[in-house]
Amino acid sequence: MFDLEKKLREYCDTVNTALDLAIPEKDEPAVKSMRYSIFAGGKRIRAAMILAFCELFGGDIKKAVPFACAIEMIHTYSLIYDDLPCMDNDTLRRGKPTNHIVFGESTALMAGAALYARAFETVLESPDLSSAQKLEGIDVLLSASGLKGIISGQMLDIENRPGLKKDEVMRIHELKTSAMLEASALLGCIAADCSEKEKNIALAYAKNVGLAFQIKDDILDVSGTVEDMGKTLGKDKASMKTTFVDILGLENAQKEVDRLSAEAKGSVENIEKNDFLLSLADYLANRRT
Ligand code: IPE
Ligand code: IPE
Ligand code: MG
Ligand code: MG
Ligand code: MG
Repeated sequence: MFDLEKKLREYCDTVNTALDLAIPEKDEPAVKSMRYSIFAGGKRIRAAMILAFCELFGGDIKKAVPFACAIEMIHTYSLIYDDLPCMDNDTLRRGKPTNHIVFGESTALMAGAALYARAFETVLESPDLSSAQKLEGIDVLLSASGLKGIISGQMLDIENRPGLKKDEVMRIHELKTSAMLEASALLGCIAADCSEKEKNIALAYAKNVGLAFQIKDDILDVSGTVEDMGKTLGKDKASMKTTFVDILGLENAQKEVDRLSAEAKGSVENIEKNDFLLSLADYLANRRT
């Protein structure tokens, strides 16, 4: 049987080593704050997806690593901001006090912005990617993190209220979460110089995994444990957000996760060496962390 945990650990080690070089230790509050959150112990799912698609389509993993660092920097910035008092007002993230609790709001804001900027520098500094690959990758990162992704998703989520319809919640999930997973799949493809056909397969997989991922996050917000999740739970209900759990109920929300995961697996069923992607979809659908 495929050892997913081992492969995830391998990918995680690769990206952590590169992140340590990209954001070296420095006696500066902004740098300490950036490193605090980026090394707080995220699952590195997005990075793993980039490295996996690059490998799967025969690319050199060296080319995917800067993209993997960039996506985790952007993702971490989005979490620092998501936790701020003016957003979800959270005090626990990745099992540790949130960035603004430790460093204060001003430093958290600056560290988030610095992570965002450093993401693009990291891509540009790569000696392995061609200029065309850098340009295409940066375009993908900008789309997923801007008005076609996180920003619009988070804006809609701020307005999220009781009584939203399924397709409205879906739209929020798509923008705030799936967009970054789709970007990850695409970045792996760009690093491997993939064809359009391969990119479309990767995108179909990531879109469904992404939706399932956020529905599962909402399920775990109700049914998970703080120890496993490393963040405060019951937040969606407390802030009166409509989630799939409200619309479908816990059991059917999990069925939706399973259905989307099966769909994701279906889109990669005909590619060789797809065992990582198949196991990843299963693991994410049944995760507790
Ligand atoms: C949390 O993402 C935010 C969502 C999009 C649900 P992850 O669950 O991937 O967070 P980390 O990186 O592992 O902490
Ligand atoms: C936030 O969704 C996703 C982002 C784009 C940051 P949530 O607000 O549900 O994420 P958690 O539960 O705090 O990780
Ligand atoms: Mg939020
Ligand atoms: Mg939140
Ligand atoms: Mg959540």
